[in-house]
Amino acid sequence: MKPSPNIIQGPEWEQREKIPVRVFPDAVQASKRVADQISDALRKSALERGSLVLGLATGSTPIGLYRELVRMHREEGLSFEHVTTFNLDEYFPISPTHPESYHTFMREHLFDHVDIREENIHIPDGSIDRSDAFAACAKYEQKIKDAGGIDLQILGIGRTGHVGFNEPGSTSDSLTRLVSLDRITRRDAARDFLGEPNVPRYAITMGLATILEAKDIVLMAWGDAKAVIVSRAVEGPVSETVAATFLQRHPNARLVVDRAAAADLTRFKHPWLTGSPEWTPPLTRSAVVWLSNTVGKPVLKLVDEEYGEHGMGGLLTENGPAYNLNIRVFNDLQHTITGWPGGKPEADDTSRPERASPYPKRVVIFSAEPQDDVLYMGGTLRRLVNQGHDVHVIYQTSGSLAVPDDDALKYAECFLGFSRSVVAASSDLQDHLARLTDDIFSKKPFDADSPAVRRLKAVVRRSEALAAARVCGVDAAHLSFLDLPFYETGRYRNFKLTDRDCDEIASILDAIRPHQIYAAGGLSDPNSVQAICFEAFRGGFRSLENSCDWVESCRVWLYRETQREWNPDEIDMAVPLSPDELAVKIKAIYQHQSQRHQVPSEAAGYREAWQQVESRNRQTANLYDGLGLAEYEAIEAFKRWK
Ligand code: GLP
Repeated sequence: MKPSPNIIQGPEWEQREKIPVRVFPDAVQASKRVADQISDALRKSALERGSLVLGLATGSTPIGLYRELVRMHREEGLSFEHVTTFNLDEYFPISPTHPESYHTFMREHLFDHVDIREENIHIPDGSIDRSDAFAACAKYEQKIKDAGGIDLQILGIGRTGHVGFNEPGSTSDSLTRLVSLDRITRRDAARDFLGEPNVPRYAITMGLATILEAKDIVLMAWGDAKAVIVSRAVEGPVSETVAATFLQRHPNARLVVDRAAAADLTRFKHPWLTGSPEWTPPLTRSAVVWLSNTVGKPVLKLVDEEYGEHGMGGLLTENGPAYNLNIRVFNDLQHTITGWPGGKPEADDTSRPERASPYPKRVVIFSAEPQDDVLYMGGTLRRLVNQGHDVHVIYQTSGSLAVPDDDALKYAECFLGFSRSVVAASSDLQDHLARLTDDIFSKKPFDADSPAVRRLKAVVRRSEALAAARVCGVDAAHLSFLDLPFYETGRYRNFKLTDRDCDEIASILDAIRPHQIYAAGGLSDPNSVQAICFEAFRGGFRSLENSCDWVESCRVWLYRETQREWNPDEIDMAVPLSPDELAVKIKAIYQHQSQRHQVPSEAAGYREAWQQVESRNRQTANLYDGLGLAEYEAIEAFKRWK
């Protein structure tokens, strides 16, 4: 295992981590590594025993792994002929042909593309009669035994710490069984099932004992939404409340994670508690902020003893005394704050986050889906407009997949009613609208939308984006809706970026030639719309680097689109919002009425999106206040992309 470059490997963090964890820069590299491991096992088993038994998982996490295995099959002749597979779980009740069944998932992502034999595939059947479930589960266990047990089990992890569908409370001796799903799990699946009511209430899952019987286990996790649960699984006590902690007792279990999912492990989050780190400026800032929070004192009041007592003696030796360190970090933080996100014209900008000139600036704000702009930077957006900059918002995807049928129906009926009230006789438009309403009425959950319904849903989101941008003062002529092809032709979890997407971004950027760009640059699940949109932006922007002179002087600011704000050591620009500005931002978010279903929240169960960003922006302000900086109502934070 390779330690991070600024960490000196030592026994302390290894002792804290009770399962070996291998950290990769990103999910692609990590998935390739696991695919290599599977192909090694396959080749080895071919020589030794002739067959290999794999335990497989579903969800976003293993998609990259399956893609790589399919590639290896096509390009390198990796054969699955002698592989037997057992999937972890399946929803119940569900038909195997349902688009969200794990049967469908496995076919779409792996089985249809490799040479595995049909009779070697095993997935719990979610379509059986409930009264047969007990016997079917016992049979599943028996089949695993008959196959010689699982050689290598692949796992993802749910936000409740579940593996398979072993929700909190599952015991370590549990076997394959019918379970009822946790509320958080059902809500996490709501997007895939186009609404929580469509998510099955039960599932059939291998038990923890079934999983722990596997000879080798690899648990994979990507993105910062998994960081908290990964650290609990690895560093926390073994407990039924986090099923994944039972892996600590397995001799050959390990985690393969990306840097974002590893972020809450002590060796990354608080490396001074587990060894003697190299004190880089960001780490110093992070440690001083942590110390100030931990002892409950503003930065300028921290004293030498407090540094020493909290594992930061080395920092004092290198950069002390406390007084000097405090001042340095305080100034650093102070300089991130600005009410002039586009730069303050004619002001000294040596220690400001953004340059004073040119003024006004041409600014581009990328919004992966309509709503991201106001959600994550509505206050800054309004400031940029009010301060006279030429602000363009580019909505990368139509967002049509996220409009519930009920909302589409409401709008279809509204258009129909209006057209009937202004045009007496039947008209083509009315016929069209009546057909649209029928389409939605007759649609069963999971039927694909007709092209007309999909267009209507895109129009709904456009009109909401328009209304929200109006609240922020952006001229409608400055809004662009790209409807990127990857989104229009794809499905959640099935998006594939192509050059066409990047080319569209490049062409609009080169037409505007911005001085400043804002984009979502969080560390989310690599299959999320936001992560793919960032890749599209990166691809488009990079393709202009050599041919366009404006690119070099353009500054890119990243807002974080996940539930967490940037850490204090990552923030390069903090834009304060007054109570009134925060209220206007919330008003803008309200305009996205089709998105007012509740979304998962780390801290407080489930809340609407505006409630989450409101508390996130207030928390950032409280953090700055607690450090002894000015007390603001709310703060939006950005990191510079270099
Ligand atoms: C579901 C599956 C798990 C999976 C988890 C996380 O609950 N039953 O096997 O690990 O989701 O899903 P994702 O990989 O999409 O984050």
